[in-house]
Amino acid sequence: MPQPGNAAQRVTKGDGEPGSLPASRTDRSISTGSVGPMCGIVGYVGPQDALAVVLEGLRRLEYRGYDSAGVAVRVADAADGALIWAKKAGKLANLEKVLAEQPLPAATLGLGHTRWATHGAPTDRNAHPHLSADGRVAVVHNGIIENFAALRAECEAAGVEFASETDTEVVAHLLAATYEQTPRREGRLAEAMRAVSRRLEGAFTLVATHAAEPDTLVGSRRNSPLVVGVGEGEYFLGSDVSAFIAHTRNALELGQDQVVELDRTRGVTVTDFVGTVVQPKAYTVDWDAAAAEKGGYDWFMLKEIAEQPRAVADTLLGRLGPRGELVLDEVRLSDQELRDVDKIFVVACGTAYNAGLIAKYAIEHWTRIPVEVELASEFRYRDPVLDRSTLVVVISQSGETMDTLMALRHAKDQKARVLAICNANGSTIPRESDAVLYTHAGPEVAVASTKGFLTQLVACYLVGLFLAQVRGVTFEDEVYAVVADLRRLPDAVAAVLERMDPVRELARSLAGEDKMLFLGRHVGYPVALEGALKLKELAYIHAEGFAAGELKHGPIAVIDHGTPVVVIVPSPRTRGSVHGKVVSNIQEVRARGARTIVIAEEGDDDVLPYADDLIRVPRTPTLLAPVVTTVPLQVLACEIAATRGLDVDQPRNLAKSVTVE
Ligand code: G6P
Repeated sequence: MPQPGNAAQRVTKGDGEPGSLPASRTDRSISTGSVGPMCGIVGYVGPQDALAVVLEGLRRLEYRGYDSAGVAVRVADAADGALIWAKKAGKLANLEKVLAEQPLPAATLGLGHTRWATHGAPTDRNAHPHLSADGRVAVVHNGIIENFAALRAECEAAGVEFASETDTEVVAHLLAATYEQTPRREGRLAEAMRAVSRRLEGAFTLVATHAAEPDTLVGSRRNSPLVVGVGEGEYFLGSDVSAFIAHTRNALELGQDQVVELDRTRGVTVTDFVGTVVQPKAYTVDWDAAAAEKGGYDWFMLKEIAEQPRAVADTLLGRLGPRGELVLDEVRLSDQELRDVDKIFVVACGTAYNAGLIAKYAIEHWTRIPVEVELASEFRYRDPVLDRSTLVVVISQSGETMDTLMALRHAKDQKARVLAICNANGSTIPRESDAVLYTHAGPEVAVASTKGFLTQLVACYLVGLFLAQVRGVTFEDEVYAVVADLRRLPDAVAAVLERMDPVRELARSLAGEDKMLFLGRHVGYPVALEGALKLKELAYIHAEGFAAGELKHGPIAVIDHGTPVVVIVPSPRTRGSVHGKVVSNIQEVRARGARTIVIAEEGDDDVLPYADDLIRVPRTPTLLAPVVTTVPLQVLACEIAATRGLDVDQPRNLAKSVTVE
């Protein structure tokens, strides 16, 4: 069991493994920088009991991750400044229990972390803070360091023994080594942090301390959030303002690629990664603590919708290896086994199932392997035909859904190979699978899945491309072209989110409806299903999604005067005449009195005469379009529910993770 310990003593800790080191926004005027989905970080330097301040901050940030928690403090009166640390897998309460049993000495500088695992399972030894080999640097990190493998190899070549499987640990070792090479002068630790930050690729917020600098805390930021709190003779760092709102409301916003030094004598200094001093933007936080946890949004769901550009970007991070090959997180299958696959089942529940329906279009197109999509609760009981050349792709945000887990076990019993797409690192479903691709959405708190869904789509595309690559059925340049398209998606999603005011207004006008239809074709059909599911879940309005071509075979009978019908229109560039047929469907329902709400890409003017309400989305390649067309439907459902006065985050009768069959 890990205990509070002095990192300077090399003893075995962590999991007991040898070699481990001891180891809708209410105030839109306030920006906390980019939203980042993973891990909570706190730092403190000042006269108060640092451990108490850090733990309180972690409690407020626990919604950001609860795989493990850890703290490191700099003992105030130790001659050479020992760093003392404690970390523990599981919720913060586990760490607090350890600390209650073995209290740490008083300290005036500390940092803490609550983890949402990305690299490395959620174990004690992978918990943050991570320490340098000499125990003199402690660092916490939020994000993904894309080039960590190369940096780790470099450290190992220099004789460093790693104590964890994380991408973060390289920073501790690099920072310790760089600090030694940095001239002794004021701002030495910040200078070392800048030098290390310049070498990192990917997304990171880092907070670090060095045993030789008792009054200095440094932070660094690229693509992940970090805010500074300024009190009376004391300074705070947090992933968001909720970390320090109990102590101060004066905050500084850090920009992209900036390093901050907090020093009890010299105060706050912010520079870019080169060392040019920059003036941070100051603001006053007027949220209460609960609003601060939601980043100022009324609901977690709204916050999670807003986080989608970042979640999509993070899911793409680190997926291309040094030779341009696609990389999964865990692969316990040989290339030959993947080449032998002659049939794929995608199995999931709820929103994840809708992601699977979209996956079918992409995977079949790229790999030419037949794909069947099944509800997990049906799959197992209908005796599907499986053998060792069948690949079963299970999709689950939580990794704990019982129906999906049982389907997975059934597939394994039949000797099929299983690949999991999952958001919760180390959960049961990925543990029992042969290969895993994690979505990096960060914790999803709202019951209705939003960023979970979008990142599942991205993961499905990656799986399709991965299989196409391994099997050699797609040219490398084709794979790269799709990867380049995928990399444009975060901006496309952000562009959709910027134009949601008319959708919110539309939603308010629909709040009194008692039924709604959603129509789509090709990949727009599963989007229609997802739009209807969101509306049912959140607003308790009877909603159905249909394949637009099926309209004439039944659904058109339910259309009445004023029935709202949402139509997801495929791109005019789609193969065949699918676009024209959907435009005809809009005319048909309108002729029968429907109120048509049309989602169409920019420049598609064919829909103009038939759209009562028109929602524009950016032009996106056909197979990837669901990543953008789903977003207005999420906002629509959320806003209708809010207008009806319902609990958006916890709709009646539903649970986030359904662990019974
Ligand atoms: C529950 C949730 C849904 C979710 C489904 C599957 O029903 O309310 O939002 O899509 O479970 O969950 P999973 O964690 O397996 O993706």
